[in-house]
Amino acid sequence: MYNSRFAGLGYYVPENVVTNDDLSKVMDTSDEWIQERTGIKERRHVIKGEETTMTMGVKAAEQAIERSGLDKDEIDFIVFATLSPDYYFPGPGVMVQKELGLKRTVGALDVRNQCSGFVYAVSVADQYIKTGMYKNILVIGSETHSPGLDFTTRGRGVSVIFGDGAGAAVLTREEDNSKGILSTHLHSEGEHAEELALIAPGMGRHWVTDIIKNNDPEETSYWPYMNGQFVFKNAVVRFSEVIMEGLKTNELSPADIDMLIPHQANLRISQFIQGKFKLSDDQVHNNIMKYGNTTAASIPIALTEAWELGKVKEGDLVVLAAFGSGFTWGSVIIRW
Ligand code: COA
Repeated sequence: MYNSRFAGLGYYVPENVVTNDDLSKVMDTSDEWIQERTGIKERRHVIKGEETTMTMGVKAAEQAIERSGLDKDEIDFIVFATLSPDYYFPGPGVMVQKELGLKRTVGALDVRNQCSGFVYAVSVADQYIKTGMYKNILVIGSETHSPGLDFTTRGRGVSVIFGDGAGAAVLTREEDNSKGILSTHLHSEGEHAEELALIAPGMGRHWVTDIIKNNDPEETSYWPYMNGQFVFKNAVVRFSEVIMEGLKTNELSPADIDMLIPHQANLRISQFIQGKFKLSDDQVHNNIMKYGNTTAASIPIALTEAWELGKVKEGDLVVLAAFGSGFTWGSVIIRW
């Protein structure tokens, strides 16, 4: 069995900055409320027609491939995590393959695990590399939330939180088993599927044909729903559990962590985890203040930023952890 390691990282966020004050002009909210509850100061929104989940994923991927030192023809497989694909189907994995001009028939897999999407995608890629099936895998997390959020006062509990952006990584085979990804840990609890969900358009109870036919402005099934406090309470518990699970599997303890990259759900959640594991400010990288919650893109964006700042160095123990809709959660333990 091989290990896999991160050979290249990249990210891309749209230039269009939307501040809390901008949002307070279109809904009943305030900079003070948003910062106090979430830590968010601003987020990026795509400009319609200019950027999409796929195009941002391509930009992040180009940077990750270039930094990996690999030729794009050496990419064996693509794993693309998103909850906001350009098309209902096919997913953006195949579109990225075409746009990047990767080898014509490399496989592309789309992952639907929302905020845990990147952790799930990395875990999938890691298994393929471990078994020797593939050598170099492009993993992307990219999201375009802004076109699908309710920017009226009705939607303020959700729409102020999410932002657009993309991050990517190239995972490659590592022959030294003490280096690279040491383990990944994935969980879900479908019992809470509807606590953070976008129900429509779907082929279940909310048929697209009915929504179009009814054309009802009060119909809310196509806006994301979030039971914020319930999500918060579950997130702090599951984040802690899954980080400990990963550390214990590798006979490590919180004191061994050099860098924790938590999914950027809410600054208060990250701060709770930081306190619980007694980590200093420079052992946790947060950027939700600038980008909001970019779901599957948040970890690769934050990891890339931390790496660019020299906060992730060879030999460091790096922990990635996520929690989100599903509920789903997971962690990745890496010896960089
Ligand atoms: N601006 C101003 N007021 C707002 C608001 C906004 N953007 N959003 C909600 N409110 C109001 C509510 O309407 C409510 O008013 P009321 O008391 O008159 O009914 C009040 O603020 C409190 O709402 P509540 O939902 O109880 O707030 P909260 O303290 O739970 O904070 C979240 C809301 C969403 C910030 C918080 O629950 C949270 O962060 N949850 C986790 C979310 C998360 O991490 N999601 C991603 C998971 S991957």
